[in-house]
Amino acid sequence: MAPIDPHSFTDSTHPVTTHISLSLYLDFPSSTIHATALLSLSNPHTGPLSLDTRSLTIHSVLDPQSQAPIPFSLSSDEDPIRGRHLTLSLSNHSSFLVVYSTSPSSSALQWLSPPQTFNKTLPFVYTQCQSIHARSVFPCQDTPAARVTYTCLLNVPSSLSAVMSARHVTRRSPNESSPSHAPPPPHATWGAEGRAVEEFVMDQPIPTYLFAFAVGELGFREVGPRTRVYAEAAGPVLDEAAREFAGTEEMVLQGERLFGPYDWERFDLLVLPPSFPYGGMENPRMVFLTPTVIKGDASGAQVVAHELAHSWTGNLITNKTNDHFWLNEGFTTYAERRIVEAVQGEDRAALNIGIGWKGLNEEMERFKDNMEFTKLKTNQEGVDPDDVYSQVPYEKGFQFLWRIERQIGRPAFDEFLKKYINTFKFKSIDTETFLDFLKANVPGIEKDIDLELWTEGTGIPPDAYEPVSNIYTKIVSLANEFKLGRMPREDEVADWQGQEWELYLENLPKAVEASQILALDECYRLSESKDYEVKVAFLQLAISAKCRDYYGEVEKTLKSVGRMKYLRPLYTALVQGTGKEEEKILAKRVFAEARDCYHPIAQGVVESIFAKHL
Ligand code: BES
Ligand code: ZN
Repeated sequence: MAPIDPHSFTDSTHPVTTHISLSLYLDFPSSTIHATALLSLSNPHTGPLSLDTRSLTIHSVLDPQSQAPIPFSLSSDEDPIRGRHLTLSLSNHSSFLVVYSTSPSSSALQWLSPPQTFNKTLPFVYTQCQSIHARSVFPCQDTPAARVTYTCLLNVPSSLSAVMSARHVTRRSPNESSPSHAPPPPHATWGAEGRAVEEFVMDQPIPTYLFAFAVGELGFREVGPRTRVYAEAAGPVLDEAAREFAGTEEMVLQGERLFGPYDWERFDLLVLPPSFPYGGMENPRMVFLTPTVIKGDASGAQVVAHELAHSWTGNLITNKTNDHFWLNEGFTTYAERRIVEAVQGEDRAALNIGIGWKGLNEEMERFKDNMEFTKLKTNQEGVDPDDVYSQVPYEKGFQFLWRIERQIGRPAFDEFLKKYINTFKFKSIDTETFLDFLKANVPGIEKDIDLELWTEGTGIPPDAYEPVSNIYTKIVSLANEFKLGRMPREDEVADWQGQEWELYLENLPKAVEASQILALDECYRLSESKDYEVKVAFLQLAISAKCRDYYGEVEKTLKSVGRMKYLRPLYTALVQGTGKEEEKILAKRVFAEARDCYHPIAQGVVESIFAKHL
């Protein structure tokens, strides 16, 4: 056994899966998927083959031609991080069919009951597979080192429709014959009444964490030549989203100018219900987004720019394992800011860099007892990637690339980036591969930049940089003056949008007096901001100051969104530190009441915050 990834049972001595044909029957009443997965290998294999699973019941494994059973065993103990190890005994097989069911606790899936949706009468389900949750939807070699193409049939109630991070082929009745490559599903005898089958194909090889679907009462609006915005058809979100994302094509064009052709044909956006645990997820062909990015001031475009940038960095070039996650997120943060700069100007980009810089410095505080996770290249052996998710790969990664840009100049760096993307597209690489490529293409770079310190060292290297821009400097100095008791004047904040306030609030000291908090809110109504970045930054200060007037608002916020970027700081502020009995009780009660509305990944993250502090 030679593992290639600390988060997977995939064995380096086994062939890799190259294609997966899935047939999924979605049973909403039981929050279960009954499924078959036909996996094709790179070459015929005899002997054991290791696969990752979590929360799956394996009914049988069959030879796809003869239907003869293939022996298998599922480890009886569940690894808390990797899940259950499925071992097959193959005899010269180049493909095999797994008949299985998911369980209601499958960590990638969030099943929303009708009352949790806008229309209130129909259910909704969606996946979030990054980093290691695809294995809870289908058995696979769930490591980004391996790439697969796939087809997927989704059998759904005919009142609902399905979207995927793949090309839609048809929607038909379940009675019409299924394509010849897919064996009849075990549930072929299930009632076909009131059901529809949606067929999708992904013919570009992707890492399994980019597998995604959503099923619900969905509608869409066209917003560009290759972009539709999808969302729940009932409710106001669809029209608001269409307005918010009207500028998407301009960003795709800027992305192509900077990084080369957009390779994924379509760039659709799906706005999910408020429980979606991330800001955005770069599922190919269809980015998944939280509705909290819709603010009516075009700032949601930053999140779209980020997920779009992944189309090159992350989806074309992928980190080989999570140890090299910065190759995905650091490059994407850099690319995102170049797109933002091109469409919204240098000041906007500098603000984003400034917010990121503050975030990076705060992470140093969070990891002060575990400096491993302040490195770019990490060792995640025995570590759950969801537990160590942080700004470090994003912002330190960004700083590293920005440092290289400063060293060699923008034109040379742009050329280098294009060549990097072209050289490694559709490959999964590690930090060493990047460094070798850098040294080969920028001879002598290691004399000017301490590459080892940047990639292997802890903390923030001395040649990292705070951005320079008038607006950034002005906001930071206003925040410093607040420490001396001066509130910003109305004329100073007249043209501030959400990001200006966010930067301002994040630069205030954590120990502001309750009276100052109240005075600030009296003037600027930050606790009522419809921009969650602003609202949450404010509420965090309010909790630190034990300003109880705001606890009602904290509770309301924790019950209305499931984005971890907001849950994490609010729950942490409530439970960390001493003399916080009332806050701890509040946190536990709110979580007990809101838990069912959170995605399983978010539930796990809140539970680990509690485990650490309670
Ligand atoms: N790929 C990430 C989201 C992610 C990371 C999911 C790790 C699971 C594990 C996505 O591209 C992302 O970074 N989203 C950010 C957007 C922001 C940086 C603009 C988010 O969700 O906040
Ligand atoms: Zn990202």
